[in-house]
Amino acid sequence: MREVEAVVLAAGKGTRMASAMPKVLHPICGRPMIAYVLETLAEVGIPSPVVVVGHGVDAVRGVLGDGVRYAVQAEQLGTGHAVMQALPQLEAFGGTVLIVYGDVPFLRAETIRALLAQHREQGAAATILTDVRDDPRGYGRVIRDGHGNVRRIVEDTDASPEEREVREINAGMYAIEAGALRDAVGALQPANAQGEYYLTDAIAALLDRGHTVAALVVADSQEATGINSRAELARAEAAMRAALLDRLMAGGVTVVDPGATYVHAGVRVGRDTVLHPGTSLEGRTVVGEACAIGPQARLVDAEVGDRVTIVASTVTASRVGDGTRIGPYSHLRPGVRLGRGVEIGNFAELKNATVGDHTKVHHMSYLGDATVGARVNIGAGTVTCNFDGRAKHPTVIEDGAFIGSDTMLIAPVRVGRGAVTGAGAVVRRDVPAGGVAVGAPARVIRHVAPDEVPASEPTS
Ligand code: UD1
Ligand code: CA
Repeated sequence: MREVEAVVLAAGKGTRMASAMPKVLHPICGRPMIAYVLETLAEVGIPSPVVVVGHGVDAVRGVLGDGVRYAVQAEQLGTGHAVMQALPQLEAFGGTVLIVYGDVPFLRAETIRALLAQHREQGAAATILTDVRDDPRGYGRVIRDGHGNVRRIVEDTDASPEEREVREINAGMYAIEAGALRDAVGALQPANAQGEYYLTDAIAALLDRGHTVAALVVADSQEATGINSRAELARAEAAMRAALLDRLMAGGVTVVDPGATYVHAGVRVGRDTVLHPGTSLEGRTVVGEACAIGPQARLVDAEVGDRVTIVASTVTASRVGDGTRIGPYSHLRPGVRLGRGVEIGNFAELKNATVGDHTKVHHMSYLGDATVGARVNIGAGTVTCNFDGRAKHPTVIEDGAFIGSDTMLIAPVRVGRGAVTGAGAVVRRDVPAGGVAVGAPARVIRHVAPDEVPASEPTS
């Protein structure tokens, strides 16, 4: 039997978010806020806590998967009621139960360790984490007696004007001995402004039963921040992002304007890469060394090599080789693999396409379901016509081919090594290696009279 078990409360609707999505799934820097809490628990050696789910249970389970245990709170009757639902899973457990709320993403492993260490040293039945805040509004206040001992926690909505003046708040993390927890939680009553079973009332209940309750004041207020509204979500995102950018800069990345650069947790960027304003690096994006990304680049799950330039373009679930240049105004949709030294110009769209080294795709082209070799030139306006209205078909363009401007490649089709297509060619059949394909050349049908020639537009 392990010494510490954890319960994470995540059943609440999060009414103040005004959202169809359960609050704990709202992302901060790309990850659901509860994921931070679970990761921190894993860091202290509790990989499989009991997560209390209720509102949006399927959505929450879908995101968290099978790595944790679940207890269902069918009706959200308060945090104390939520803990009651978890207790049957800890029936035989006699150690310390760590209770954490799913909406405190800044909590750090060191703090959990410190709380547990103090709890053990003092031999308390319960130890709570508190924080002294300049603005304690919205939080439960920690009420101490004349000796400085914790007496109870009073919720903001239930507090008297004097109690509201108290700046020490309940951070929402508790270490409680399993036996004492069962006693105290069993005695909770919903006698308060919200008609809920408050976990916070368990503190007074423990003291009434002669147990000792201790408190640890958190070192960094940020850690105790709970997220209840969209405004708090945005502030949390900004704080988390600033910390992520600081870490990137410490690793040798230039961030021209940290206030205008957006990164998700888990994004990696190599040394001497410059992130220009308006850049958003999302998901599992990895960028190599000495790249120039942005202005206005959005990379989602992108894998970018070294010395790559990406200007004002979007790259999603694609790989970009060393020394490649993209943009401005191009779009790599999922499944693109670009080799080294590739040039993707203006207004190009690629999807599920492999492009060989030093190939150029300039100006307004579309390559979809295509395999393009090395040193190919794709002329302006080239389109792989991959969809016939029913199914998608592949296009293959071999090494060194020269695709003339405005070539329509009607897939499935193959253009052989070193072959050439003329401007405006409509290629319906395979072109052999070294072949030259021209299509539908314009015919001269008559001569125009001089007054028929359109005048050039007047300049305004
Ligand atoms: C809670 C505390 C408050 C503390 C603050 C710290 C109580 C009564 N109040 O207030 O003292 O200062 O957190 O951030 O505990 N939940 C359930 N089931 C429920 C209700 C809530 O699982 O029936 C979960 C929520 O999903 C959430 C967590 O418990 O993750 C906290 O609930 P929330 O409503 O955010 O509590 P606060 O009002 O912030
Ligand atoms: Ca909260």
